Amino acid sequence: MDKLIMQGGQPLSGTIPISGAKNAALPLMTASLLTSEPLILRHVPHLADITTLAEVLGEHGAELSLHGHGEGGETGRVLSITTPRITNAVAPYELVRKMRASILVLGPLLARHGEAKVSLPGGCAIGTRPVDLHLKALEQLGATITLEGGYIHARADNGLRGAHIRFPAISVGATENLLMAASLAEGETILENAAREPEIADLAACLNAMGADIRGAGSETITVSGTTRLRGADHRVIPDRIETGTYALAAAATGGDVTLTGTRPELIDSLTELMQQAGVAVTVEKDSMRVCRDPDRPMEGVDMMTQPYPGFPTDLQAQFMACMATAQGAAMISETIFENRFMHVPELMRMGANINLHGGTALVRGVKQLTGAPVMATDLRASVSLVIAGLIAKGETEINRVYHLDRGYERIEDKLSACGASIRRERV
Ligand code: UD1
Repeated sequence: MDKLIMQGGQPLSGTIPISGAKNAALPLMTASLLTSEPLILRHVPHLADITTLAEVLGEHGAELSLHGHGEGGETGRVLSITTPRITNAVAPYELVRKMRASILVLGPLLARHGEAKVSLPGGCAIGTRPVDLHLKALEQLGATITLEGGYIHARADNGLRGAHIRFPAISVGATENLLMAASLAEGETILENAAREPEIADLAACLNAMGADIRGAGSETITVSGTTRLRGADHRVIPDRIETGTYALAAAATGGDVTLTGTRPELIDSLTELMQQAGVAVTVEKDSMRVCRDPDRPMEGVDMMTQPYPGFPTDLQAQFMACMATAQGAAMISETIFENRFMHVPELMRMGANINLHGGTALVRGVKQLTGAPVMATDLRASVSLVIAGLIAKGETEINRVYHLDRGYERIEDKLSACGASIRRERV
């Protein structure tokens, strides 16, 4: 298992190119199952989660080909996926357990093939994360769902039919699964209380290019007029707003000056506002942003609460906490999306942070300095918060179980080293 060795104390300075969004690319890849024609996705990040999902799609009969960087002036990779027919409707436990997002094959398989058997994802480090919202909504489209031997077995022998669905709670994945299923259902589907994340609008744009008729994606009510057949398309994945926010926070934490390029700053307005309140200078252009802080003026402690988009993303909570660990004053950080997303807290405390946890709220009292320590990565975003802590800590930090980081951050050590960080990977 690889580890990262870091020496803290260098302000980051330079330019970081932002990759395509993992959380947009994953549902887009599963949308390829809805058609027999090729779906070409551009600006796909090179990440372990993408490889895992490619394996899942391969199980169902998809043929995938990946082209390298820089083709046609593009950054990222170009992924072409063609599924002439669904050869097997089973998404096995060995693959689904590696990545929950595999549940996103359920809607497409059911809609095109009339049957899907997907392993229940099971518990995961950041909470129980059930899939009940996906299943109930698919039942409303006419699917029959049973749970057998740890698998979700969904059938729609006579096809899916449009319905008026009001989600009892907001779920990104359930909204995506339903968008894909409803695109091939008979008649109209209305989704109320839908998630508004930018990745949903990106998926809808791709589905529309494939011949679907989706209106209102990005708002809380989405209308889908079903069609009998979807075609191939050529789609560019949106930039990763979480990667953007992570490096913005890393720059702010170190008192650096970093420009993030190839991004869409308006997708993280909630973060920009908080950083400005904390005394960080943020300059926003159309497709880049510059984040800069005077190293002699620590960030101010500011309170934050995670919320569905356009609120502050839960996927940036851990990174924000790492910044607040050395802020001037205190910060109250409330997590409202996942019930157990504070695994980074004990690790940050081992590096000298002063944090008190009360249920879903963490009170962070800023300390003058963190100190390097050997720490353990537990999940994707928790791991990267330890990288931020390692950048500002005095001395050496060793981060173990780096495979969590490789699930979601493309070439993290290269991107940070290019801005002056002392960080290297040791292959164990
Ligand atoms: C997606 C993102 C993840 C992000 C999360 C919230 C992807 C691949 N992953 O995950 O990075 O942290 O959105 O922004 O895009 N829930 C239920 N029942 C369900 C589904 C969800 O109770 O059937 C709960 C979850 O446990 C959680 C909340 O709803 O508490 C939000 O989860 P959801 O929006 O579904 O997250 P994901 O789509 O899994």
